[in-house]
Order: sequence, then structure tokens, then C-alpha cells
Amino acid sequence: MSANPIIETKKATIRFNGLTAVDTVDFRMEAGEAVGVIGPNGAGKTTFFNLLTGLYTPTEGAILFSGKDITKVPPHRRVALGIIRTFQLVSVFDSLPVIDNLALSTIRFGENYGGKGKFFFANVHSQRIMKACMEKLEVLGISDKADLMTSELSYGDKRKLEIAVALSLNPKILLLDEPFAGLSDSEIGEVSVIINRVKKDLSFVIIEHKISRIVDMVGRLCVMHEGRLIADGPPNQVLCDATVREVYWGKEEGLTCSV
Ligand SMILES: Nc1ncnc2c1ncn2[C@@H]1O[C@H](COP(=O)(O)OP(=O)(O)O)[C@@H](O)[C@H]1O
Ligand SMILES: [Mg+2]
Repeated sequence: MSANPIIETKKATIRFNGLTAVDTVDFRMEAGEAVGVIGPNGAGKTTFFNLLTGLYTPTEGAILFSGKDITKVPPHRRVALGIIRTFQLVSVFDSLPVIDNLALSTIRFGENYGGKGKFFFANVHSQRIMKACMEKLEVLGISDKADLMTSELSYGDKRKLEIAVALSLNPKILLLDEPFAGLSDSEIGEVSVIINRVKKDLSFVIIEHKISRIVDMVGRLCVMHEGRLIADGPPNQVLCDATVREVYWGKEEGLTCSV
């Protein structure tokens, strides 16, 4: 592995009242990698994202981005650095039109953001901003819904909007937390195609419960169990790992090991 990871954790640990949700996790990835994080419910996957994005500060250990220690850097500054995530439960503003969800993120983290005061007087519907927003909606295939109220969207379209918002924030690394949760099979197919398309330009981490959905999407799989990273490597190797098979045994049909 090269010596210049885009993101790295060193013995990252967080405890909640005696429960160690993330336990001495050493993780690193190179720019351009696509990594899947799998593991049973409660394994610590979402909490790990919360550490990478700054929602939580580790009890012990460090987080580095492009070689710089960001352990104490707050979430909004990490967004400005390009560390962008989506949430397990879709997180968009229901009470705004679809396009305005994007206008907000585009202005707030755009080049010309001039602080809170100017934000409120920014020309939200300027041609430049609208064009940038529509482009993102087109990438996600929901540009025909730009003027709808977000509350009117299906859950699958809200997920697409959330990914559009994430892309509008100029991610260097995109962290998707169970993007398929709550989606129908056909929506999962659509969102998979979109993710496969956009991930080419990014460093990318996806949490997913069902391995078969992401095994062809990632070059590397990490397995978490009870807060620990118990396996990390090429998917085929990880799926054949004895400990991983024990953790997943009987839980997912068709979990094959072909080495
Ligand atoms: N803010 C919190 N306070 C207390 N416990 C938490 C908190 N966040 C997560 N946990 C606990 O940490 C463990 C890991 O949770 P989580 O990261 O959500 O798992 P996963 O995403 O792998 O299903 C769970 O036992 C959960 O209850
Ligand atoms: Mg989770």
C-alpha cells in the first residue's frame, strides 16, 4: 500500500457508557479506491462513519485526511475538505422544493459563500446556481421532479436527491450509509447504476448489510463485528475468511467463497 492514504484512522475508538461501539480500528484507503463496509446490525458501521465525518470525536485514536490530523475538526469543516456522507435514514428537507435542497448545499459550500449574512441574500435562483443544481438532478435521473415539494417524492427518489446533494458538495471521499435500505428492488437497481457511474471519479465507501448487493461494486471489503475491523481485503479473500463466515453463517443465502 502506498504511503499517501486519503483517509486513515489510527486505533479509532469510541465508547458509550461502557459499550465500545468502535474499537481500535486501523483503517486506510487510497484516493480512488471503492471500499465496502459490511457487518451485522450494531457492529459499529454507522458509528465509524460518524467518526470519519466528525459527528463524534473518538474517545481514543486519531483520524487523518490526506495526511493531516482532523480528529478535532468539526463536521462542517470536514465537508469543506470534501468528506461527504449520506445517512442510513434519508436526510433531506421535506418542506422545501426538490431544487432548493440542492440550491442550499450548492450555495453554502460553494466558492463564493460569504458567511451567514450574505447567505440569506444570495441569489438562490441565479442561472449559474440553477444550472449546477439541475445538472446534479440529471445525473440522478430526477430532473423532471425539480419543482415538486420534496415531501411528495418516493423514498427512492428522496435517496437519489440525497445523493445529488452529496455530489453538489464536491466530494473527495463519498461515504454512503446503507443507501439501499428501504428501497424497492427496482429502485435498488437504479441507485446501483447511478452509484457505479459516479464512484469512478471519487474515493468511495459504502456500508451495506447484504454483501451480494455491493460485492461487484467495490475493490475491497471491510468487515466490522462488535466494533472491531475483523477482516479487510479483496472481496473474494474476505468472503473466504473463517471468522467472517462464522459471523455471517446462516445470515445471508448465497454467500459464496470461490477461492
Ligand atoms: N450515540 C450513541 N449513544 C449510545 N450508544 C450508541 C450511540 N451510537 C451508537 N451506539 C451503539 O453503538 C453500537 C453500534 O451502532 P451502529 O454504529 O449504529 O451499528 P451499525 O451501523 O453497524 O448497525 C450499537 O450498540 C449502538 O446502540
Ligand atoms: Mg448503521
